[in-house]
Amino acid sequence: MKKETIIALPGDGIGPEVTGVALNLLQTVCRQHNTDLEITTLPFGGSCYDQYGQPVTEEILEQCKAAGTVFLGAVGGVKWDNLSGDLRPEAGLLKLRKELGVFANLRPIQVHPALSSASSLKKEVIDGTDILIVRELTGGIYFGKPRFTSEENGDPFSVDTMKYSRSEVQRVARVAFEAARKRDGRVCSVDKANVLESSRMWRSSVLEIAEEYPDIELSHMLVDNCAMQIIRDPKQFDVMVTGNLFGDILSDAASMLTGSLGMLPSASLGGGNGLYEPVHGSAPDIAGKGVANPLAAVASAALLCRYSLKLEGAATRIEEAIASLLAAGIRTADLYSEEEGTTLAGTEEVREWLLDAVTAKTQTI
Ligand code: IPM
Ligand code: MN
Repeated sequence: MKKETIIALPGDGIGPEVTGVALNLLQTVCRQHNTDLEITTLPFGGSCYDQYGQPVTEEILEQCKAAGTVFLGAVGGVKWDNLSGDLRPEAGLLKLRKELGVFANLRPIQVHPALSSASSLKKEVIDGTDILIVRELTGGIYFGKPRFTSEENGDPFSVDTMKYSRSEVQRVARVAFEAARKRDGRVCSVDKANVLESSRMWRSSVLEIAEEYPDIELSHMLVDNCAMQIIRDPKQFDVMVTGNLFGDILSDAASMLTGSLGMLPSASLGGGNGLYEPVHGSAPDIAGKGVANPLAAVASAALLCRYSLKLEGAATRIEEAIASLLAAGIRTADLYSEEEGTTLAGTEEVREWLLDAVTAKTQTI
C-alpha cells in the first residue's frame, strides 16, 4: 500500500457533516486503489477561534503546508460575524489560500442529466452545460494593499485595492489554457476592461499568453455581460478565466445551473499544493440537522484524488457514484421537489448510498 497524508479542516456549520461523508468515501476509494490515506484533522475558522482566539494558528498553517494537500469543509457563522476583519473565520481561509500559494481555483460546473429539472432555469437552456471556471485566488481586491478604514470631514470611508500584476494574471491564464487543451479548446477571459485599470492589465496579459496557445480559441467578455450570458446561454462557455472577486460572484451564479450551490466542488492549485473545498458556505441555518447536501464535498474529494493523489480511477469512481445516486432519484432537501421517482434523503442516507455504490463496484470490476 502506498501511504499519503492529508490535512482535514472540517470548519464550521455544516462543514464537519459534509467533510465526514467526503473523507469516508475518500478513504474507501483510496484503499481500493492501494493507497493508505492518513488524515490529520485540525480546527479551523470559527471553531479554531473559539479554541485559540484566531481563525487559524501558525502551527496549523505549517502542518497544512507540510502536507501540501488539504481538505476544507466550510467556515463562518453568525457567532463570529462581529469579530474584527482579521479575526473572522473567512480571514483564516484567505490566509490559508495565500500561504499554500494555491492561485488557481478550479470550479467545474456540470449539469447532471438527472438534475436538469432541479434548476430554476429551463431544462433546454442548461442541459449539457459543462463549464470550468478558473478563478484567480490569491490576488486582486481580496489581498490588495492599501486596505483601511478612515474618516474625512466626519464621514467615515473604507478603501480596498484591486491590483493585478502581469505575472499573477499570466500564471492563472496558463492554467486555463492548459485545461482548455484537455476540453473543448476555448477560453473566455472575463474582466471589466472598459472601466478598470487592473482589468486592462488582465486583458493584455492574457493576450500575451494566448500567443503560446495558437490551438486555443480565446475570447474576452465584460463581467456584467458574462453574468447575463451565464443565465441566458451557459452552453456557450468552455473554460472561463477571471479574477478573484468576479470569479467568486460568477461561480455562485453559475451554481444555480446545477440545481443547487450544494453541488459545486472546487480545487485550488498552485506551488505543488492542493486545497479542496465545496463552494457552498457553512449554512448555519441547517447545521446539525442532518439535512446538508454532502455532494459538493464528495465531488471535491474526487478532485483531490485527481489532482493531488493522481488517482484518476479513484476520482472517476466517486464521480460515478454521485451520478448513479442522482440517477436513482436520491435528493437532499436543497434539490428535492416532489418530482416523481425521487426520494428525500438526509446526509447519512447519502453517505450510506455512496459507500454502497463504490464498494459494490469493486466486486463487479
Ligand atoms: C468562496 C467563499 C469565500 C470567498 C469566503 C468564505 C471567504 O465565498 O470560496 O467562494 O469569498 O472566496
Ligand atoms: Mn463565494
